[in-house]
Amino acid sequence: MNAAWRRFRTMPLKRLIYVSQAAAAMSAPDLQRLQSLSERNNRRQDITGALGFTGRYFIQCIEGRAEPIDTLMRRIAADTRHTAVLELCTVDADRRLFDQWSMRYFDSHALDDDVHQVHQAGQRDPARAQWLIDRMTEFLQPGHSLHRL
Ligand SMILES: Cc1cc2nc3c(=O)[nH]c(=O)nc-3n(C[C@H](O)[C@H](O)[C@H](O)COP(=O)(O)O)c2cc1C
Repeated sequence: MNAAWRRFRTMPLKRLIYVSQAAAAMSAPDLQRLQSLSERNNRRQDITGALGFTGRYFIQCIEGRAEPIDTLMRRIAADTRHTAVLELCTVDADRRLFDQWSMRYFDSHALDDDVHQVHQAGQRDPARAQWLIDRMTEFLQPGHSLHRL
């Protein structure tokens, strides 16, 4: 590990959560491609996070150092695969929620109504953002699959 990387690794973490509306239908291969490209890019930037697709909306959490997060968010906001990108919250984080995943994909059809409401409201809403991300992370809890049996 060189000195620059060590310095980078000790910089504070930032977490950003947004929702957006898909510009067109997204097929399973479309989503697969988006996820693998995101994984590859994010790994290089030490970015982790989660992406959900509800059938109409995207919900994404990205976490990492401020500069790469801001750069990625500008790229994402300009992506024509979605529109009406609404940042729900940006927080300083003391730990990562998705430290194992450079981009974890979740089928989020069950959250469609909730994401619709939050997107329609059109304003920052850290509490609802956290609630949505908590729903997604529930799938990651040990024993979750046992619970569903
Ligand atoms: C909903 C959504 C989420 C995205 N998430 C990421 C991401 O986490 N990381 C990433 O590198 N690109 C992401 N992208 C793609 C970027 O907008 C952009 O296309 C990509 O970073 C360009 O990569 P390239 O320069 O390697 O082609 C996302 C796009 C959309 C529509």
